[in-house]
Amino acid sequence: MRIVLGVGGGIAAYKAASLLRLFTEAGHDVTVIPTEAATRFVGTATWEALSGNPVTNSVWDAVDRVSHVRLGHEADLIVVAPATADVLARAAAGLADDLLTGTLLMAHGPVVMAPAMHTEMWQHAATRANVETLRGRGITVVEPASGRLTGADSGPGRLPEPADIFAAAMRAAARRAGTGALHGKRVTISVGGTREALDPVRFLGNRSSGKQGMALAEAALAQGAHVSLVLAHAEVPPPAGCDVVRVESALDLREAVLAALPTTDVLVMAAAVADYRPAEVMDAKIKKGDGEDPVITLVRNPDVLRDAVLARAGRTGPLVIAGFAAETGDATADPVSHARAKLARKGCDFLVLNVVGSHLVFGQDTNEITILDARGTESAAIRGSKRTIADAVIAHAAGLLQD
Ligand code: CTP
Repeated sequence: MRIVLGVGGGIAAYKAASLLRLFTEAGHDVTVIPTEAATRFVGTATWEALSGNPVTNSVWDAVDRVSHVRLGHEADLIVVAPATADVLARAAAGLADDLLTGTLLMAHGPVVMAPAMHTEMWQHAATRANVETLRGRGITVVEPASGRLTGADSGPGRLPEPADIFAAAMRAAARRAGTGALHGKRVTISVGGTREALDPVRFLGNRSSGKQGMALAEAALAQGAHVSLVLAHAEVPPPAGCDVVRVESALDLREAVLAALPTTDVLVMAAAVADYRPAEVMDAKIKKGDGEDPVITLVRNPDVLRDAVLARAGRTGPLVIAGFAAETGDATADPVSHARAKLARKGCDFLVLNVVGSHLVFGQDTNEITILDARGTESAAIRGSKRTIADAVIAHAAGLLQD
């Protein structure tokens, strides 16, 4: 592929050199366009040496070849890393005051931007609006990573790891090329564990790490899907390139899932949703006193999976719905029988059955599952990393969507 790598003027510009290496080592032909400010951090000689191509940020070089028009038209992919608040603003406003912004206006292929800036700049209303504008135009603006920033401060605003930007860029290119079993499809995945508030500082939660849900998101992205995460509490960050709606409780999660449903082709309920919540949420912190110890009364939460299945009834296009079930088996029935009964109760298209024993699956990196389909079929046991399992689940959903 012919790739244009735009580099904004932030300290993270040095990390773009690693990203450039990933592109060239994968066999791509990369033209680097640093902004004027970026060259204060990393000189053009570095970009020329690493890319093997001439580097300029001026529209006044090689005027006869009208560089911005040629580069914009010829690029199969444009990646901007780091995308500073300034570059995001100029791109959103449609300015063309240097070679990078001019090239962005001429882009024919997919554009991926990886922001890096201080947390306050990232969270500023102006930046938020610019990011929304760019996303609305189909540009992939990946979420910045959280962590230590240039100074002593930390928070969201770090440039994601070059390998993550590389992966997001390759996914964007695959999406545009139309490869992947879920190309053009929208996949919504609920991920992580809900938290049910007791008072302003306490909650009832669960041990879900969110790893399986994130692996599902990666697998769906790799198949060219547009992925939306309904993200409850998780220990791992979402992969670059998906939309994220953050939720706390089961009720929040239900609202977000049902709101996404009309535009969803595949829903995977991977979240650990609390079946119960405290009947009452205290406005003030519960204090220990000399009186009686508090008793917490719980009330049932709605079954989101079941509600999604019910909401599907009124819709026109196909929608595949999958759930997860962790079963142990007991004196009355084996795990598969329990899961079959659950599949019937929920009414979804398939259940991913996790047979749990004394070793819990929460937080582990590998897993073993069986896919039980509502049509009565049952897959062989699928063993492996959470990504291997995610690939199998996404492939099953894609197969049902095509049927
Ligand atoms: N789920 C849901 N809403 C809930 C609870 C669970 O949508 N309030 C979803 C989960 O995301 C998962 C599946 O339903 O896809 C799990 O089913 P569930 O009946 O909760 O299984 P268990 O927690 O194992 O429940 P049980 O005690 O009935 O076996």
